[in-house]
Amino acid sequence: MPVLGIEGTAHTLGVGLVEEDGKGHARILANERAMLRPLSGGIIPREAAHHHAEVGPRLLQAALEKAKLSPDEIDGVAFSQGPGLAPCLRVAATMARALALRTGKPLIGVNHCVAHLEIGRGLTDAQDPMLLYASGGNTQVLAFARGHYRVFGETLEVGLGNALDKFGRDNDIPFPAGPEIERLAATAHRGPLHPLPYTVKGMDMSFAGLATAAQRLVVQGTPLAEACHALQEHAFAALVEVSERALAHTGKTELVLGGGVACNARLQAMARSMCEERGAAYFCPPREVLVDNGAMIAWLGLRKLAVGDTLTVESSGVLPHQRTDQVEVTWR
Ligand code: ATP
Ligand code: FE2
Repeated sequence: MPVLGIEGTAHTLGVGLVEEDGKGHARILANERAMLRPLSGGIIPREAAHHHAEVGPRLLQAALEKAKLSPDEIDGVAFSQGPGLAPCLRVAATMARALALRTGKPLIGVNHCVAHLEIGRGLTDAQDPMLLYASGGNTQVLAFARGHYRVFGETLEVGLGNALDKFGRDNDIPFPAGPEIERLAATAHRGPLHPLPYTVKGMDMSFAGLATAAQRLVVQGTPLAEACHALQEHAFAALVEVSERALAHTGKTELVLGGGVACNARLQAMARSMCEERGAAYFCPPREVLVDNGAMIAWLGLRKLAVGDTLTVESSGVLPHQRTDQVEVTWR
């Protein structure tokens, strides 16, 4: 029962094909992806949408070929309905509607943040985890509690990845800067940690000032690698602290990682060690589903299709500001 999923909330257009493996887990048949890399500055929504429209047909064909499926062999078409950049969301939605109409298969709208959590459950043994989701545009700690996905803590302004990318731009590190900051940080001379603002307010976090303060270190002559190291240590400590407190508050015993920033080995090590210390299970799904991808959209689409939670074309408008806790949870 393969479902096709189209991801298009931000930089990445992804097309995935996923089926259920007979034991309740996801089997990824294809997961094609193309990412807009701006030559300078940040992402311009219109340019990203143009990129998605250009690569869309090629990715769709590549995914179907990889999975050895024809369009008529898929059982449903899912797309990232929100939250995200409206022009990008519209391209993914338009592709999905066209494919659903052409094949006569059901159309399914998926929340991007919840899809990150659900693919973690779909590919690991996690049953009811807390998700630490850190990407470019999003940074949230969320879990299922009392009938809804609830956000226990989140960034008050930019996502951590955007803060890292901004720091990268100021230091001539090409986008996406996260991997190069990670590489540089690992080479840092291990002296005392340079102090930076550590902003956890209640359960929420803030990263824009942290990146600015790290840049001040560079301007004052601190080697770039040491500034990268300090930036990572402070930011990741905040993520892990909020995750630990969310686990303690809810009594949950599993942590799953998601989002492009979760590709970072230092963040993974810190999260794992926090879990070990409190006797919680730690799960990190493969990189191809940490970053934005179509397979996670397909997987949540499959779960929603199984309970008949589908959309008509008329009711399939995009939801750029959809909040995680607004999602009606029909599939669990
Ligand atoms: P969204 O916020 O909608 O999920 P996105 O385009 O930011 O969108 P991702 O692909 O999940 O989605 O994440 C990209 C971000 O992850 C970039 O900001 C990038 O710098 C960051 N990133 C990637 N690899 C690493 C790494 N090894 N360490 C830290 N950050 C990383
Ligand atoms: Fe994402």
